[in-house]
Amino acid sequence: MSKRIFLSLIILVLITVYAYPFFYSYEKYGLKNIETYNTVLLTDSYKQISKEFTKDWKNYGKTFLVLQKNYFKKLYFWIVVIIPLVFLLHYIIIGPKRFSHDGEKFLIFNVLNRLVHWITAAAFTILVISGLVMLFGKYFGGGSFVRFFRYLHAPAAFVFTPFAIIMFLMWIKDMIIAPGDVTWFIKFGGYLSKGSDFIMPVGKFNPGQKSWFWLATMGGMVMMYTGYYLYSFDTDVNSLRIYAIIHNFLGMLILMMFLVHLYMSLFAIKGSLKSMITGYKHEDELKHMHNRYYLKVKK
Ligand code: HEM
Repeated sequence: MSKRIFLSLIILVLITVYAYPFFYSYEKYGLKNIETYNTVLLTDSYKQISKEFTKDWKNYGKTFLVLQKNYFKKLYFWIVVIIPLVFLLHYIIIGPKRFSHDGEKFLIFNVLNRLVHWITAAAFTILVISGLVMLFGKYFGGGSFVRFFRYLHAPAAFVFTPFAIIMFLMWIKDMIIAPGDVTWFIKFGGYLSKGSDFIMPVGKFNPGQKSWFWLATMGGMVMMYTGYYLYSFDTDVNSLRIYAIIHNFLGMLILMMFLVHLYMSLFAIKGSLKSMITGYKHEDELKHMHNRYYLKVKK
């Protein structure tokens, strides 16, 4: 895709994302007499379909309370404690992968890739931290401290959404399942063995990175959609319960993968962080970890 088409796409996406709230409020509070056009029809048919799937809405009240009271907080707590501990053990027992930085280097992440990545990463990190502070608000003494983080959550989501869409468009073609991905899974990407004496026949991104990409971008969109209603209370109470269950459950998966991503990029492969700052990776790492991609760029 040429740079110009790509930039036009980005601008179009940004305009759409930012114009939507205005269009929405205009439609809701503005011209009531033309409101009957297809939004209402769509909402009606959506409700009809939902009814078919969900039957008795009241069940969700109970499910919601049980999950909320007994499981979510505990599960989040264990994720935040256990996953870093497992990684600490991995770091001590197996250790990070080190590759020579002497050979030829290749530009892997261009300026646009790095800019989009770091803006998305910053917004996302604020979303994760502020989400956890809200969830464990009681233990942070509640009050203005927790309220401050609640106020941060929405603007961070507002930044995250358009940049996650750009990230999606920017990397989707490299993130589709490809030959070599199954081998990577079978060998667990080489992360369970010491040293780096192996060849992983994968392209620019391995299946672990691909899973993170899909979860962060598509899952991120579901988080934004459900989060919008949880923030605005702009729907009925049963829908709010379902949205809260989805938001909390998906949030858990995303948090797990986010911790994996942090460990991989900050500790598991020496020099990985530098590659997302400078854009370059060295020959030795590409040859071992992304062999198919290496053979392509080496030609
Ligand atoms: C602040 C925390 C973060 C740090 C330190 C970080 C660091 C990195 C690094 C070093 C890479 C290059 C990995 C490599 O190929 O060697 C990378 C890639 C990537 N990052 Fe992040 N990242 C962060 C947050 C995020 C967030 C929040 C998202 C998505 C919402 C994200 C999405 C990606 C994707 C899709 C890639 C390419 C595939 C991959 O390497 O996983 N990152 N990140």
